[in-house]
Amino acid sequence: MSAEISSIKNTVLIVDDDEQLLELLGEIVQDMGCISLQASTIAAARKCLAENKNISVLLFDQALPDGNGLDFCRELKRSRPETLRILITGFPETQVALTAINDGEIFRFITKPCTAENVQLTLREAMERFRLVQENQRLQAALIAGNEELQKTNMALQQALSNSVRLCFDLLDHFDHVLASHSSRVAKWATAIGKTFQLSPEELNSLEMAAEMHDIGLISVSRSAHSCQQLGWNDLSPSQQAALHAHPKTGSELVQFLQQKGVPEIILAHHEWFNGNGYPNGLAGDRLPLLAAILAIPDAYDEVPMERTDAARFIEDNLGTRFHPEVGRAFLRILQDRPEMAEREREVLISELEAGMKLSCNVSSASGVLLVPKGQILTPKLIHYILQHNVSDPLTQRLFISV
Ligand SMILES: [Fe+2]
Repeated sequence: MSAEISSIKNTVLIVDDDEQLLELLGEIVQDMGCISLQASTIAAARKCLAENKNISVLLFDQALPDGNGLDFCRELKRSRPETLRILITGFPETQVALTAINDGEIFRFITKPCTAENVQLTLREAMERFRLVQENQRLQAALIAGNEELQKTNMALQQALSNSVRLCFDLLDHFDHVLASHSSRVAKWATAIGKTFQLSPEELNSLEMAAEMHDIGLISVSRSAHSCQQLGWNDLSPSQQAALHAHPKTGSELVQFLQQKGVPEIILAHHEWFNGNGYPNGLAGDRLPLLAAILAIPDAYDEVPMERTDAARFIEDNLGTRFHPEVGRAFLRILQDRPEMAEREREVLISELEAGMKLSCNVSSASGVLLVPKGQILTPKLIHYILQHNVSDPLTQRLFISV
């Protein structure tokens, strides 16, 4: 008997109408350090089962006064499949016993007259089997619980990541709304292009995250340099140019903490050119990461100070030089198929608000109360409401509409 078995008190239910044999088997079971329950009829056995939940082995006779032991065995198989069933029979050659074994209804059978050694050996095997089945069930339950725990942890991590990205994006929006809404549009386009390249869900996730954060490095650039950048590169001082050139690297370092595979690399390379004339590393052709090549196109399209049609022509004219040609063509096809994606925004003064305009930013009072949410189409009533508030609590924010 193994140490594990001897340390567990197994319970054996013995059902036999032969009083002498019942007593003998009971002693054998007790000598093995197990609990012995005895019944001479099926009715008494059922009572024992009802009163004892943990019965490892059923040792039963085939011919019982109130029924067939094999029928009782089948009944037990349904109600207590974990209990191992051992038949004690005086007719080992009968078809009934063989069928019972083959159908899996019994674990073993012992022939009468039986020796103590034979009974002990069979019981040991049954108890070991019982222990293994129990252990297997315990491990499976632990595995399921572990998997559920892992899933919960994964979901919590995903939520934490998503919250971190949201926080960064909101900070960017507070720092510069124009930059944040540009990033948001670029993320939509980049995702649409990525889908045409059959990217995996993880790659698409990284691309979208990188697109939303791609210019986060600009928070380290002075606002004056940032606004001069929109006027022209030559209007910047050498130190301002150097600061702007550093923003992909700064951005890639800032997003390291997100620990999302690929995001820092995409951000680092979003100003690289297909022909190697970009910055910071002058990567060309195949050395340029595909996801960064995807991001670079909507970024440029949305940023060039041109009408949308001219901006599309600008992309087309620079395929193979500044832009990855295959990615560029995919982008131009999307623009053709989904013109609504070309929507951008324009800054307006409060006095310029007109009915029918669509807000592309939240409008809040100076004290932070949300007056009209982003995406709302303005009506005369809403404009009046904003103007009224502006009198009592003047707005301090910039206003933007979709165009
Ligand atoms: Fe950038």
